[in-house]
Amino acid sequence: MAPGTPVCLVTGAASGIGAATRASLTAGGWRVIGVDLRDADIRADLGTPAGRETLLREAEMLADGALNAVVACAGVLGRGADTLSVNYFGTIATLEGLRPLLAACSGARAVAVGSVAAYFPDADEALVARLLACNEDAARKAAAGREELAIYASSKRALARWCRAAAVSPDWAGAGILLNVVAPGLVETAMNRETFSDPKRRAQIAAFMPAPLGRHAQPAEIAALIGFLVSPANSYMAGQVIYCDGGQEALQRGPAIS
Ligand SMILES: NC(=O)c1ccc[n+]([C@@H]2O[C@H](COP(=O)([O-])OP(=O)(O)OC[C@H]3O[C@@H](n4cnc5c(N)ncnc54)[C@H](O)[C@@H]3O)[C@@H](O)[C@H]2O)c1
Repeated sequence: MAPGTPVCLVTGAASGIGAATRASLTAGGWRVIGVDLRDADIRADLGTPAGRETLLREAEMLADGALNAVVACAGVLGRGADTLSVNYFGTIATLEGLRPLLAACSGARAVAVGSVAAYFPDADEALVARLLACNEDAARKAAAGREELAIYASSKRALARWCRAAAVSPDWAGAGILLNVVAPGLVETAMNRETFSDPKRRAQIAAFMPAPLGRHAQPAEIAALIGFLVSPANSYMAGQVIYCDGGQEALQRGPAIS
């Protein structure tokens, strides 16, 4: 690898949006360190403390002490309390744990992958508060008996709030690290394979998650936005939740911005 080649660590790199991000960054001349349960440079279960330790230990070695960018993309849907452990605690452990490696590079950038689900009324404010209190055991217990969509939406709402607060803090913006959230609408990935393969469920989800552009996204379309956010072209955006959703958020929440 040529000296000066930028290095980006991508979690969830084996599939979907993470795989598309890895492919487009690699094509653009980056060295990508992929993290996933399988088929990755670092195999780690980010839903567990041991897996998060593996991530940090191996990232330190593979990145040689510095990272230009981190994309925290790994996520799950429909796994009960494990959804909280992966989507919220795993993502925050990734961002916070790798922050020293980002701080070692000038102009570093980070992206967390959220979701339009963050604004859904299904999100449960009591659960969001438990997540933001950062007590994983308590949050996992609080997930018992809740609907899967409520758990998923709560994990993404808490993640967006955590990122917006962190992004403007001395540790992130103050250290010159630009942190933002990409919030996709429906994307055709393994996460939704069953939905997309069943015409009835496809029609139901299309009604629930309308896309004014008339179709749902391909992973490469989300990866393109992530690629911009980690590139030097993004020199001034921090603390934003950017909906990449075919217009869904603007349609559902309306034109008001406050
Ligand atoms: N597909 C959508 O419609 C959609 C919409 C909004 C947000 N998202 C978000 O996008 C992100 C990527 O999802 P995707 O659609 O590409 O799904 P995907 O299932 O194709 O990819 C997710 C990847 O994360 C990995 N992963 C899951 N649990 C992990 C763990 N414990 N440790 C390490 N890696 C783990 C999986 O192995 C997989 O490779 C997720 O955070 C998801 O919530 C997806």
